[in-house]
Amino acid sequence: MSDPFAFDRPLRFAVMGNPVEHSKSPAIHARFARQCGIRLEYDRIQVDPGGFAQALDHFRARGGNGLNITVPFKLEAWSLADRRSPRAELAGAVNTLRFDDDGLFGDNTDGVGLVRDLVENLRCPLAGRRILVLGAGGAARGILGPLLEARPEALRIANRTVSRAHELAERFATHGPVTAGGLDQLNGAGFDVVINATAASLDGALPKIPPSVFAANGLACDLMYGDQPTAFLAWAADQGVTRLADGLGMLVEQAAESFLVWLKRRPLTKDVLVELRANPAAFSEAGRVSE
Ligand code: ATR
Repeated sequence: MSDPFAFDRPLRFAVMGNPVEHSKSPAIHARFARQCGIRLEYDRIQVDPGGFAQALDHFRARGGNGLNITVPFKLEAWSLADRRSPRAELAGAVNTLRFDDDGLFGDNTDGVGLVRDLVENLRCPLAGRRILVLGAGGAARGILGPLLEARPEALRIANRTVSRAHELAERFATHGPVTAGGLDQLNGAGFDVVINATAASLDGALPKIPPSVFAANGLACDLMYGDQPTAFLAWAADQGVTRLADGLGMLVEQAAESFLVWLKRRPLTKDVLVELRANPAAFSEAGRVSE
């Protein structure tokens, strides 16, 4: 995209994924746009398995300027991008696409969104701290680069399938002090920040870890969110952990970073996050849904 402000029609963005009908992104970006005085349309586009590349071409042909990509298309978005940011390259996944004059630019704003939420919103510095990441799937891979960039003392990846944790640790070994192991090797570990990046919360399940994973005043963070606390956050609270963070802050922060990638302006996030927590229903309804 050459000059985002040289258009007299609204700029066109959308989130593509499956499912997307409950995505809060249209309402979040509508608030960012209003705040920055930019006219934009932001739709939800539900894409059938196998139909992603075609949907992308179609959106571009209709004058689309950029996209957010969500489950299950982040890897395919990565492979379809003509150019990628270093953080997208490292993550092996793309959640933000921008249609540039010279092709498709792919970025990944998930990890930086999480780090901004932890450091700026929750006042939880990561430098010199001990971080535990539970899970070794796509969600974990997307956050490891920015977490290591924040210069923790140690970052441990623990996964149910230990070999996947080791593979991830090898991939990120040159980026910081990362080690790997199983969920059953965490006794007495004492981490300042414990991040649940497993898909367990989707089924209301809990990764099997001992309460001693938390250091005194440790923070529990789940990348998921819902109307009720996730099983992981509820369990952490039962263990006496008082600093709890769900994925809503990361959601708003990754959106702000995508907005910056597309439009070269960083919107303020605080009021949007406050409103989202107070009135989540208002964020589910706004925005149009395309086929
Ligand atoms: P995502 O893109 O959401 O990360 P994924 O790539 O399928 O999805 O990865 C899911 C992650 O959640 C994996 O780390 C998985 O552990 P395994 O590698 O052992 O499968 C983890 N996971 C899912 N359900 C879990 C559960 N009930 N307990 C512990 N870990 C779980």
